[in-house]
Amino acid sequence: MNELDSLVASAQALFAQSATPADLENAKAQFLGKSGRITELMKGLSTLSVEEKKSRGAVINQAKQAIEAALNQRRQALADAELQAQLKAEALDVTLPGRADAAGGLHPVSLTLERIEGIFGSMGFEVADGPEIETDWFNFTALNTPEDHPARSMHDTFYVEGGHLLRTHTSPMQIRHAVQHVKRYRQQLDAGQGMPEIRVIAPGRTYRVDSDATHSPMFHQCEGLWIGENVSFKDLKVVFTDFCRTFFESADLVLRFRPSFFPFTEPSAEIDIQFATGPLAGRWLEVAGSGQVHPNVVRNMGLDPERFIGFAFGMGPDRLTMLRYGVNDLRLFFDGDVRFLRQFQ
Ligand code: DAH
Repeated sequence: MNELDSLVASAQALFAQSATPADLENAKAQFLGKSGRITELMKGLSTLSVEEKKSRGAVINQAKQAIEAALNQRRQALADAELQAQLKAEALDVTLPGRADAAGGLHPVSLTLERIEGIFGSMGFEVADGPEIETDWFNFTALNTPEDHPARSMHDTFYVEGGHLLRTHTSPMQIRHAVQHVKRYRQQLDAGQGMPEIRVIAPGRTYRVDSDATHSPMFHQCEGLWIGENVSFKDLKVVFTDFCRTFFESADLVLRFRPSFFPFTEPSAEIDIQFATGPLAGRWLEVAGSGQVHPNVVRNMGLDPERFIGFAFGMGPDRLTMLRYGVNDLRLFFDGDVRFLRQFQ
C-alpha cells in the first residue's frame, strides 16, 4: 500500500470511529483542514517541476476525493442515525384508543327529580326551592306542630347552632311559598277579590338522624301543594294517580289512599301504589303522605280557611328511584361509586 492509499485508509477508519457530527468535523480537519495532511501534501507540490506537479497532483487529488467521499458518506450515516433516533423517540402508536372526554351524567335521583318536575309542570305546577337550614317555625310550628306536640317525636331532628335545624321534610316550603304567593295578591284579597290558585311542588334535600338500607341521614323529598277556592280530595286523587302512572309508565298501576295522621293535614292519607305487572306486582308500596291542608296551616299561609281549601302531599324521590330502577339499597345512591352511577347514563 502506498503512502496515499494508507492515508485514505486511515481517514476512512477515523471517520468510521466518529460517533457524532462534531467528532467527524475534527477528524476531517486532520486531513482536509488548513494544516491537514492532504493540504500539506498540496503545499509540497510547489517545489516540483511542472511534469512532476501534474502527475503527483493528480494522485493527491484522487486521494483527496476519496477522503471527501468517505467524509460525506459518514456525514449522511450520522444524520440518518439521528433522524432514526428522533423518530423512535417521538413514536406514536396510532392503534391506542383515543382519550375521549369523559362526560358526566345526572345522578339517578336527579333524573327522578327532573321527571317529577316535568310531569307536575305539565299539570300546571310551579317548582319552588327553599333553604335546607330551617327555623322551628317553618319546619314545625307553622305546620300545626307546636312545641309539645307528640308528632315532633316522629322526626329525629338535626339541630344546628342558633336554634336552627336541618329541615326534616320539604313541608316548610308549603308555608314559605304560600306566604310569598299570598303577599303578591294581598290587596286583591283584602278587596274581596280572588287570587290565582297556588299550585307548586318543592323538591329538595331533607335530613333526619337515621341510617340503614332504606334510610339515609340526607334524603330527598318532594312536596306538593294545591290551594284554591274549590279544590278537593278528588283533585288530589286524580293528580296523584296521573302522576304515578306517568312516572312509572304503567297505565294499569293502582293507588290506595290509606287513612293516616299528619299534624298539617286533616284528613290525612298515606298513598300506596300497586303494579299489575313486573317483579313488584301485587305488593302495596307506600310512596307518599298526603291530605287536605289543615285550617291552622291555611291560616298560617295568610289565608282564610273558610274560603281557601286544598291538599298537600310529600313523596320520597329516593324511594321512587329505587322502585323505578329496582335498586334495593338506598345507600348506593350516596356512596358515590361511579360503577353504580354509570349504569343510569
Ligand atoms: N312531611 C311529611 C313527612 O315527611 C310527609 C307529608 C305528609 C307531606 C302529608 C305532606 C302531607 O304534604 O300532606 O313525613
